[in-house]
Amino acid sequence: MIKSYQNFDLSGHNTFAMKVKCGCFMEYDAAADIPFIFSSIRKDIDVIHIGGGSNLLFTADFPGIVLHSAIRFIRETGREGNTVFVEAGSGVVMDEFISHLCSRGLWGLENLSGIPGEVGASAVQNVGAYGVEAADAIVSVNTFDTLNNEFVTIPASDCSYGYRDSIFKRPGYKGRYIIHSVTFRLSAIPTPDISYPALRDSFATPPSTPAEVREAVIKVRDSKLPDPATVPSAGSFFKNPVISSSQFDRVKEAAGDLAVPHYDAEGGIKVPAAWLIDQCGWKGYSDGNVAVWHLQPLVIVNPERKATPAEVIGLEKRIIDSVSSRFGITLSPEVEHI
Ligand code: EPU
Repeated sequence: MIKSYQNFDLSGHNTFAMKVKCGCFMEYDAAADIPFIFSSIRKDIDVIHIGGGSNLLFTADFPGIVLHSAIRFIRETGREGNTVFVEAGSGVVMDEFISHLCSRGLWGLENLSGIPGEVGASAVQNVGAYGVEAADAIVSVNTFDTLNNEFVTIPASDCSYGYRDSIFKRPGYKGRYIIHSVTFRLSAIPTPDISYPALRDSFATPPSTPAEVREAVIKVRDSKLPDPATVPSAGSFFKNPVISSSQFDRVKEAAGDLAVPHYDAEGGIKVPAAWLIDQCGWKGYSDGNVAVWHLQPLVIVNPERKATPAEVIGLEKRIIDSVSSRFGITLSPEVEHI
């Protein structure tokens, strides 16, 4: 079934709680609805597809059509030894999916517990936390190709997964493939990854169920990140930059006596954006209706639900400028600006 609403208020569909409207909001609950929707939309109308709206900043009203999947099923599709394949509809809330897997004793996604957003978007954004990324468990992404008008299953190996990245974000692909479900590979035997320091410290003995890991992850998240139910934000606002060794030398020089946290990454050295922003004094900063979260400076918050897109963009720019002038690194937003 397709539901459609004109001149729709999107504040309940973006976790930043931006009060913006779209020309039309359309929600569907079956893959078979997608070809019908695309055959009936005029070609001159802008269309975007959103998930849980947890990684978006609407910078203004959106005059076109906003699509949202309400496809919400979870089903086991097969087993090979200890590996269990589970397919989930794109509109399933990721954390509800993970809770379901943990209650069935299936390992693989428990480190992503508490992550906001929906299953379809997790396959676009390759969400990650505490050493695990969605792509580690994705087998295939089941889509409708709006260009060739056909349903296509794309294996994870063709999705070009990287840090918060996939083909679904690239020009030519973005907006072309509508994800209706995602198939994941889980393990029926323990495969805990508690290598992330705060998580490791939560266990005196190795966890024996994914539910134990889930509980520990949620505790760590709650101690650092704002509760999406009460403090609107879009999670990490900036990506952790990957820089060259000469840029890293410049950061070390600017840091003086301070040790610069860093990790080896594909293509260079990864420095936590949180650290760079923290060093520029932004933690806990607030101005008008926007603020920088006092426990994790990567997160811009809208505590009173009154911030305008212009206020968020203004703060974003000031943070980028200050990190750039102190460390010579230009931060990129992780949050998609629409
Ligand atoms: N740090 C500071 N000051 C702070 C907080 C952190 O200097 O107030 C420095 C510390 O050196 C710390 C480092 O930043 O070791 C990394 O911090 P943290 O472990 O909290 O992780 P992060 O790199 O800042 C990433 C993801 C988060 C995810 C966590 C945990 C990105 C952009 N963010 O944050 O994802 O929850 O790791 O795995 O990659 C999200 O995407 O919305 C998100 C919250």
